[in-house]
Amino acid sequence: MTNDQAKENRLNQLNQEIENLKSSSPQTSYVQAGILEQLAELKRSNVILERAIHFYREIVLGGQAIDDELFKKSADKCTKLMKFRGWNQEAVKIMRALIDRFPDEDAYRQQLGVTYLQMGQNDLAKHVFNEQISLNDQDLFSKAHLGFILKSEGVQEGNTEVLQKAADLMAPSILDEEKSKDMQNLFYFHLGDAYRRLGQSEQADEIFKLGTERRVFPSFWQRSLYNEPNLKAQPIWPLQETGILRQLQNIKANFKVIKEEALALQRQKSGGFIKETEGLKDTGYWGQFDLFVQGRKKAYGCSIAPVTCSLMENIPEIKTNRRGQVKFSIMKPGTHVHAHSGPTNCRLRAHLGIKIPPRQNETSTAIRVADQYLHWEEGEIFVFDDSFDHEVWNLDGERIVLIFDLWHPGLSAEKRASLPAI
Ligand code: OGA
Ligand code: MN
Repeated sequence: MTNDQAKENRLNQLNQEIENLKSSSPQTSYVQAGILEQLAELKRSNVILERAIHFYREIVLGGQAIDDELFKKSADKCTKLMKFRGWNQEAVKIMRALIDRFPDEDAYRQQLGVTYLQMGQNDLAKHVFNEQISLNDQDLFSKAHLGFILKSEGVQEGNTEVLQKAADLMAPSILDEEKSKDMQNLFYFHLGDAYRRLGQSEQADEIFKLGTERRVFPSFWQRSLYNEPNLKAQPIWPLQETGILRQLQNIKANFKVIKEEALALQRQKSGGFIKETEGLKDTGYWGQFDLFVQGRKKAYGCSIAPVTCSLMENIPEIKTNRRGQVKFSIMKPGTHVHAHSGPTNCRLRAHLGIKIPPRQNETSTAIRVADQYLHWEEGEIFVFDDSFDHEVWNLDGERIVLIFDLWHPGLSAEKRASLPAI
């Protein structure tokens, strides 16, 4: 008999013994739930897991008189399992019961707020964090989370007052060395970005430096959050170093037809470019049209630009890139895109210039990557690492490029296959 089988038999036997007991109590339910939890893990069984959840829930919400400790222990386990099972709405009920019973404990309202955030219920999260802050003005965790929510509102609305409030709420938890340990990397990213958008670049740089010292970011300029270790990191990549030089030359050889497809797309009255909505654009117009997203071919996009798609499909480094995209990007004159950095160091980003206006000067139509400027030329490709800070200006005329992401050449085939999509 294997170890697992022996364990399973023992757990089943224990479970049976409890079932056979004449009377049950919250204490025995708690023990039984624990046994079921172990069994569920062993057998990878959701049915058994749900029975464990049922027992924990009964202890918390069943209305029997029980002591604080058992209540807390059961509620903690119950919410953990419910969230694991994806039952956030149910977990919320347990958390509310915890808050009702222990109104003075910060942690339960914090957890509830975080759960609402994970559910995408930002308004409810905001309400909970606000309530918690009104009860404990020193709760930097809740302040940072409230700031995080306001930051995204401020970005969407382009509202500097809201952005300033967001920064003021987030800053103390990051600057406090002890508290900062509880803060996710995301907070460094968004606090720095909030300062940037407020034009407070010294404060932004301070946060980016701090984040680099504390190993939140790979470096001051490279601020992606989903990173693999030991990958070569440089803002701009000579084409010879990409591992797909020949394929890039083939794309260039097909420039004319790629351009025709892009221009036909641009002429479309509807079903064409879609406005960027991530809040990265500062002024002007920036539209995109997807051909591949997370390594998946977009049927509609590829029906509009079939040759471009088939060129990409023939290059596994691009086609299989679940951490990247292939898309046309258009900008109207007068466009500025805020400095930003991509989510991961696992990809490199190529731009093929398709329709490029003549430029007045070095920064009027350009992309800055870290501390260098790149310029598009029709039919030419450059490759950069978009996990490095970059910023775009297009002031001179309408501009179209094809953007395509490839796996970082330093990633093994196994890694490429196993990394979760972004
Ligand atoms: C990018 C980016 C804007 C553009 O490719 O990551 O921000 O379309 N580009 O030039
Ligand atoms: Mn970008």
